Amino acid sequence: MHGVKKTFDKWAQNGRAELMEKEHGNNVSKFLQTISFGKPFTFLDVGCGNGWVVRKIVKENNCKKAIGIDISKKMIIQAKKKQGNKKEEFFHTDVESWNYKGKFNFIFSMESLYYADSIEVSLEKIYKLLKPSGQFFCGIDFYSENRATARWANIMKIQIHLHSKKEWKKFFQNTGFAVKTKHIKDLKNKKKWKREFGTLFIIGTKPEK
Ligand SMILES: C[S@@+](CC[C@H](N)C(=O)[O-])C[C@H]1O[C@@H](n2cnc3c(N)ncnc32)[C@H](O)[C@@H]1O
Repeated sequence: MHGVKKTFDKWAQNGRAELMEKEHGNNVSKFLQTISFGKPFTFLDVGCGNGWVVRKIVKENNCKKAIGIDISKKMIIQAKKKQGNKKEEFFHTDVESWNYKGKFNFIFSMESLYYADSIEVSLEKIYKLLKPSGQFFCGIDFYSENRATARWANIMKIQIHLHSKKEWKKFFQNTGFAVKTKHIKDLKNKKKWKREFGTLFIIGTKPEK
């Protein structure tokens, strides 16, 4: 965990938080457009970086509260600086040990879960943080089938977990989620993998009871 904190503290200060916002922005926006926010809802972004998804979601008419959490203190400092709406909240914490009493309708994470010491432990916590029928949207660019990104494991110099779509689905099913997947592609992107593989979204739904 220490390496992850240190890496993203650096990224928060060297412009890479905003680069991620730009790099992930198109596919995340495309994905979020497929979600119906028709009823009043609460939202949590796990590994929120500079908080750009929270700021986006809070603009939805039915959003009652949107919270971002991140293990990097400096990311949370950036997020708080950009904060513009009373419904937004940001906390410096890892998801595993977060002591929060409330539960959410929707939990989201983009390119964050595979940094966790244990994907299983993080998923169990996310499951507990959801209301019955709540949904977890997990965006991943770094998955085995997407060979262009598999080399990130060497570049990052910190432990990151590489899994196939099938393995990710299994993690979700073992936690108790009903699972669906979606590939969101960016057909005009310069990067071939964004056009051909795109972002893998795993959609986990917690049963009603
Ligand atoms: C690749 S960045 C993505 C940031 C943001 N989701 C985005 O798309 O711009 C991954 C983020 O997850 C955070 N993170 C990693 N492990 C975490 C954990 N266990 N709990 C909370 N945040 C975590 C990192 O500090 C980092 O800000």
